[in-house]
Amino acid sequence: MNTKIILFSIALVIPFCLAQNISIEKLIAHNKWSSQYQRTYLSDEEKLFRQLVFFENYQKVQDHNSQDHHTYSVGLNQFSDMTEEEFAEKILIKSHIVDYHIQQASSKNSTNSTNSSSHSSNSTSNHTAVIIDWRTKGAVTSVKDQGQCGSCWTFSAAGLMESFNFIKNKNLTNFAEQQLLDCVITANGYYSYGCGGGWPLEALKYASKYGIQTLSSYPYVAVQKKCNITGTNNGYKPQSWKILPNTSKDLQSALNSSPVSVLVDATTWGNYRSGIYNGCNQTKIQLNHAVLAVGYDSQGNWIVKNSWSTGWGEQGYIRLAPNNTCGILQYNIQISA
Ligand SMILES: *[C@@H]1O[C@H](CO)[C@@H](O)[C@H](O)[C@H]1NC(C)=O
Ligand SMILES: *[C@@H]1O[C@H](CO)[C@@H](O)[C@H](O)[C@H]1NC(C)=O
Ligand SMILES: *[C@@H]1O[C@H](CO)[C@@H](O)[C@H](O)[C@H]1NC(C)=O
Ligand SMILES: *[C@@H]1O[C@H](CO)[C@@H](O)[C@H](O)[C@H]1NC(C)=O
Ligand SMILES: *[C@@H]1O[C@H](CO)[C@@H](O)[C@H](O)[C@H]1NC(C)=O
Ligand SMILES: *[C@@H]1O[C@H](CO)[C@@H](O)[C@H](O)[C@H]1NC(C)=O
Ligand SMILES: *[C@@H]1O[C@H](CO)[C@@H](O)[C@H](O)[C@H]1NC(C)=O
Ligand SMILES: *[C@@H]1O[C@H](CO)[C@@H](O)[C@H](O)[C@H]1NC(C)=O
Ligand SMILES: *[C@@H]1O[C@H](CO)[C@@H](O)[C@H](O)[C@H]1NC(C)=O
Ligand SMILES: *[C@@H]1O[C@H](CO)[C@@H](O)[C@H](O)[C@H]1NC(C)=O
Ligand SMILES: *[C@@H]1O[C@H](CO)[C@@H](O)[C@H](O)[C@H]1NC(C)=O
Repeated sequence: MNTKIILFSIALVIPFCLAQNISIEKLIAHNKWSSQYQRTYLSDEEKLFRQLVFFENYQKVQDHNSQDHHTYSVGLNQFSDMTEEEFAEKILIKSHIVDYHIQQASSKNSTNSTNSSSHSSNSTSNHTAVIIDWRTKGAVTSVKDQGQCGSCWTFSAAGLMESFNFIKNKNLTNFAEQQLLDCVITANGYYSYGCGGGWPLEALKYASKYGIQTLSSYPYVAVQKKCNITGTNNGYKPQSWKILPNTSKDLQSALNSSPVSVLVDATTWGNYRSGIYNGCNQTKIQLNHAVLAVGYDSQGNWIVKNSWSTGWGEQGYIRLAPNNTCGILQYNIQISA
């Protein structure tokens, strides 16, 4: 962020802050938060700006949690010194990427590119369990942290492959998000922009050709680097997958077989702490984040694994209210072989 923008932003924020009174309580909260998250800032101006943004976010958290009609609580975390705009810019998928892939999926054309996706599949059977939680079956790897990089799509795809590999081969191995980040790129023919965002389906197509390495052999560094892969025999390869129809029944039924990569609108997710989330604006869903659905509870709430560390949400997970909350039914992929 350049100094001009920061100074301009401070000018906007200061009157607001003074109006709402910076208390000792807020200063203490800020000190505590700072020592936990150890941020380094480029300048004193940025430091001040961040502090003011923190106060504003802190107030939002206090206000939300003091109202008792909510089904979820919010809290402070690694995003507490970011504005909503910065959060979208640094963490979420850029809209041109989402728009491109949604359009591809809806034009009948796109299906043949690999041995893969089929749109409307009749759910194999009606029989669905009352509760599904793949974590309890040991089918889900630990929660990861994408850092300040819009690489959620690599985590969603890797998580999908990890779980499927476990269910099929009884081997729970972490796969390499960094390989996807470095190698699923426009130069290789993918419509994907590294930390600016990409698409889980592209990652699957790539892995089906080249194979995906383990996390330990290709560690995650949260910035895009040069693709360090040769040959086409680099590890696990998904063989086929399908895009699910957009109903609750289809997602539930799919979750009975294995976890599902889902696209969501995470614009408002930044400060989620716990409970059943229903804070998305349902009349304005803009898909911008990829995660992994790992089950649902007896009330129909979706259990979703995120990639923002265990310090976010419920040990890194979020529970979403039933149906199409945050657009969770709109673009879903499941590996089938
Ligand atoms: C400012 O702080 C005082 C004392 O803590 C409190 O009574 C008052 O409600 C606060 N005003 C606002 C706008 O938060
Ligand atoms: C189908 O794909 C071809 C080649 O990729 C493209 O030229 C054509 O415009 C597409 N048609 C539709 C209806 O999207
Ligand atoms: C997909 O369709 C294109 C032409 O539309 C064709 O050239 C290509 O071979 C097809 N790929 C597969 C895997 O069928
Ligand atoms: C699709 O994958 C299966 C299993 O890997 C393979 O047997 C089949 O030949 C593939 N079909 C096409 C059209 O590539
Ligand atoms: C899906 O299943 C329903 C009921 O079992 C049936 O009526 C329908 O024709 C099937 N649709 C397809 C596309 O097979
Ligand atoms: C499947 O669901 C339909 C409608 O929800 C129901 O009528 C039918 O009996 C179910 N079939 C089985 C085998 O459970
Ligand atoms: C599980 O998969 C990893 C990575 O492919 C491999 O190194 C390991 O030997 C496998 N473990 C077992 C028990 O098969
Ligand atoms: C690239 O991969 C090779 C073999 O796995 C490894 O020895 C090397 O350190 C890697 N290079 C970089 C820049 O990561
Ligand atoms: C939700 O989005 C609609 C359409 O943009 C807007 O009119 C409405 O004010 C928004 N609602 C909330 C609570 O932000
Ligand atoms: C949402 O889901 C619940 C429970 O699964 C169901 O009873 C309700 O009809 C659904 N609402 C809508 C609007 O689809
Ligand atoms: C679900 O899919 C149907 C047809 O494929 C479409 O008409 C509808 O708008 C979709 N609904 C949502 C919420 O995406």
